[in-house]
Amino acid sequence: MCGIIGVIGVDDALPLLLEGLGRLEYRGYDSAGVVLVTGGTLWRTRAAEGTHSVNDLRVLGEDAPPRCSSGVGHTRWATHGEPTTVNAHPHLDCTGRLALVHNGIIENHADLAIGLVATGHVLASETDSEVLVHLVEAEMARGSTLVEGLRLALRRVRGSFAVAAVHADEPELVVAARRVSPLIIGLGDDASFLASDIPALLGSTRRLFALEDDQLAELRPGSVRVTTLDGAEAKATPLSIDWDVTASRQGGYDDFMTKEIHEQPDAVAATLFGRRRADGMLTLDEAAGLSEDDLRAVDRVCIVACGSSYHAALVAKYAIEEWARLPTEVDIASEFRYRRPILDHRTLTIGVSQSGETVDTLQGLREARALGAKVLVVSNVVDSSMAREADGVLYTRAGPEIGVAATKTHLTQIVALELLALVLAQARGTLSASEIGAVTDQMLGLPDHLDKVLLRTKDVAEVAQELAEARDFFYLGRHVGHPVALEGALKLKEISYLRAEGYPAGELKHGPIALIEPGTVVVGVATRNCLWEKLCSNIQEVKSRGATIVLVGNDGDDQTAALADHVLWVPAVEPMLSPVVDAVPLQFLAYWLAQAHGHDVDRPRNLAKTVTVE
Ligand code: AGP
Repeated sequence: MCGIIGVIGVDDALPLLLEGLGRLEYRGYDSAGVVLVTGGTLWRTRAAEGTHSVNDLRVLGEDAPPRCSSGVGHTRWATHGEPTTVNAHPHLDCTGRLALVHNGIIENHADLAIGLVATGHVLASETDSEVLVHLVEAEMARGSTLVEGLRLALRRVRGSFAVAAVHADEPELVVAARRVSPLIIGLGDDASFLASDIPALLGSTRRLFALEDDQLAELRPGSVRVTTLDGAEAKATPLSIDWDVTASRQGGYDDFMTKEIHEQPDAVAATLFGRRRADGMLTLDEAAGLSEDDLRAVDRVCIVACGSSYHAALVAKYAIEEWARLPTEVDIASEFRYRRPILDHRTLTIGVSQSGETVDTLQGLREARALGAKVLVVSNVVDSSMAREADGVLYTRAGPEIGVAATKTHLTQIVALELLALVLAQARGTLSASEIGAVTDQMLGLPDHLDKVLLRTKDVAEVAQELAEARDFFYLGRHVGHPVALEGALKLKEISYLRAEGYPAGELKHGPIALIEPGTVVVGVATRNCLWEKLCSNIQEVKSRGATIVLVGNDGDDQTAALADHVLWVPAVEPMLSPVVDAVPLQFLAYWLAQAHGHDVDRPRNLAKTVTVE
């Protein structure tokens, strides 16, 4: 999704802005631009060449004035208006002396635009964002400073925003503000920085702060003043940074997705590290904010998430209901708060989000808290917006994930949520200590199993080669195999742009089986769980209608192999933990099919890593 970068007080702003934009590329974008403040004027350049736009800016930047000390940059993920140069940010006001970048959506932009045009403003783009720069211009024309102008302009807008603005007349100032969309502030010795997320600033400073909702920051060389949109003095929240800049580099791998898939054993091990005490009892760390009494008081669990995080949550539903015997609902976050959910102080509401910034989930959790529920967040980003607002956080420790397709964060979410299920079972006495110990032993063995699966990527590549001409895929599973099927289909859609539908295998006969014909590929999650026999019957049903069958099967399982045209082998593990292992060959399948079709796996079209609009 859109990314913002800003800097002031450096020797040469342009290379830093371009480096920051490069680090924001992973969020997904289709155009980009920068503006520099130089000798009482602004210099702007923009490009709309999809995911090559930042590269284009590097070339266009050769014409930039040398050694400007401040500027802002933006990667745009189109919402209002096509991804063209005219719609790319930064937007300028009518004088060309004020520039602004924006993430989020200005919901009342159409009404505001009518008023602006009526008073003589000329809007150049189709974006919702451009109204902001003209609103600030109008306030400044009435005598406001840049800071006051932005504050007054933002009072008139509805929606979400992270904005940054510069003015040619105030070269020692970058002003920024946020509501819902995230914004991080960084402090150097003589410089100040801002960005949409932490990785963009890791190369510049580690003194980072999160701007909170309705706060405004005045960045000057080496200092930042924070106030509220009402003008009261305020403080941004200091962030604890446990990532280093090398973690967000590609290393020797061909792409980030491959790197991150191969980091999965370590990510799972890190997420489990230190969770079993010397006395054998499982523990969440203090940040989770759940005492024994809290855990025992829970009478229902409600999980809210999107995309791959939602699929991890679906696995958790099986684990929490089976092990802790607590009724568990899982909601797609974008629907959750609009269905008037019934929650109270005994409902443990869990938000699952690798970024901790996804606006659908963030808003859902705000609703849950407003209804009195206790909110726990499972997040991969320390001090993300969700983490800061929740009653407690359970961190996955996967390290930064740059590839748009979630891989290591998805696996660690499953592990973290299953750990929570065991902790709930322990507190409620629904599993004995020896039962919990046995599952924990299996969990701690997952990294070794993952190591074995990673060695089989070439086997999956061969299967992908055979399927390279196929256009229609069904992913089927039952029990915990169902979320694995959903996740496998999502991975394929995201990076290979092939039609893929994830479905509960037993439901196929109620309609979708009409779509099965020779040439359709059915990928079944056929590792041994309690519904394996029924899954096999469902596979027979599609096989007899001509589908090509690919099955994820346990090593040496000849009965499964007998049903399949191709088998993706995985080691057998405790069935409730099997999604952690079974997901991996499906990541590889999506990866190799995307490669076969010549797609960029890290930056698939139309997608954003962090989705900060509703
Ligand atoms: C997964 O491959 C996707 N990129 C996407 O579905 C993602 O899982 C979803 O947008 C949720 O993101 P979050 O975990 O950061 O909240």
